[in-house]
Amino acid sequence: MTGPLLAIESSCDDTACALLAPDGAVLAESVLTQTGHAALGGVVPEIAARAHLAALPGLIEATLAQAGVTLENVSAFAASTGPGLIGGLIVGSTLAKGLALARGKPFIAVNHIEAHALTPRLPRRTADNAPSGSAPSGSLAFPYLVLLVSGGHCQCVAVEGIGRYRRLGGTIDDAAGEAFDKVAKLLGLGWPGGPALERLAMEGDPRAYALPRPLMGRPGCDFSFSGLKTAVARLVAPYGNAALPRRAAADIAASFQLCVADLMADRARNALALLPDATALVVAGGVAANATLRARLEAVAAEHALPFVAPPLRLCTDNAVMVGWAALETLRARAEAGLGPPDDIAVAPRPRW
Ligand code: KG4
Ligand code: ZN
Repeated sequence: MTGPLLAIESSCDDTACALLAPDGAVLAESVLTQTGHAALGGVVPEIAARAHLAALPGLIEATLAQAGVTLENVSAFAASTGPGLIGGLIVGSTLAKGLALARGKPFIAVNHIEAHALTPRLPRRTADNAPSGSAPSGSLAFPYLVLLVSGGHCQCVAVEGIGRYRRLGGTIDDAAGEAFDKVAKLLGLGWPGGPALERLAMEGDPRAYALPRPLMGRPGCDFSFSGLKTAVARLVAPYGNAALPRRAAADIAASFQLCVADLMADRARNALALLPDATALVVAGGVAANATLRARLEAVAAEHALPFVAPPLRLCTDNAVMVGWAALETLRARAEAGLGPPDDIAVAPRPRW
C-alpha cells in the first residue's frame, strides 16, 4: 500500500474519521461527539444512527482537506463493523465499502474492541502530542494485558498477537462506565456521569462508606457492578426527592470511585497471574480517564514490575485513528504471511461481534 488509509468509526455516539499513512503516522483526524443524547440521559440508537449519516460525508471531506489528500489518493478504507449499535455500524461501514468499491480499493472490516486493544501499539510520535496518558505508547510487544473500560465495554483481554486475543473476563452485568453513569444519576449529576462524579469525589472521603466489593478476592477476571449500584441507591433512598446534602454526595462519590478502582485492581491482579509473560498492563476506554483508577492500576503494574500504559485520552475514547491502526496492523500481518488485503466487502456489521 502506498497511499493513506481512511478509517471510519460510528459504533456508538462518536462520529470519527482519520487518515493514516501506511506506517501509522496520523495525517488527519476528526471526532464529533453527539451532544444531543445528554438531555435524554443516554445514547438513543436511532438518533445516533441518523446523526452519523448526517455528519459523516462532511467529516470525511474535512479530514481529507486537513491532510491535503483527495479520495482518489486513498489506498484503502476501513470501518468498525462491530460490536456496537447496529444503525451506526451500518452507516459507517456501508459508506466505507461504497468508497472502496467505487475506486477498486480494499475495504477492511475492523472489530471495535480489537481496535481499542491494539491502540497502545501506535507509533510513538502519533501519541506523543496528546494531552494526557501516564506512559506514551511505543512499540509495545505481545503479549500484554488490556483492561477495556468504557460506557459500552468492560473486559479483560490478553493481546497475544494480531488477531490473537484471549478474553480473560468481562462484566456480568453493567459496564464500568455505565455504573459510573448510573451512580452519578442517583447523586443528581448530569450525563455522562463519570467526569462529574470524579470532580465531586475530590471533595469527599473515600472511606466514609463501606460499599460492597462484588467478586473481590474471588478467582477469575469477571466484573460485577450492579450490587454496588444498588448499595448506593439504598444510601440515597432516605432523602427521597429532597436534594442529597453535598457532603454526603461527595462522600458517596469518593467511596464508590475507590470501590470500582479496588475491584479493577483485584481483577487485573488475577488476569496478570494468568498471563505470566505479559509485557505491560494497559488500560483503555473512557473510564481510563479516572485518576483514582489509574493510580490503583499503576500500583498493580508496579507490583509485577511491569510498565503501566494508558493511551492518551483522545485515543482511549472512541476514535477513528484506532480503527485505521488496527486495519494497518491486519494488512501488515497478512503481508508477512504472504497474503494480500482481506476481502471484507461482504462482511456484515455485527452488533455483538
Ligand atoms: O470510551 P467512551 O468515551 O465511550 C464508550 O462508552 O464507548 O466512554 C464513556 C464512558 C462514560 O460512561 C463516562 O461516564 C466514562 O466513560 N467516563 C469516566 C470518566 N470520564 C469518562 N468514568 C469515570 N471517571 C472519569 N473521569
Ligand atoms: Zn469503544
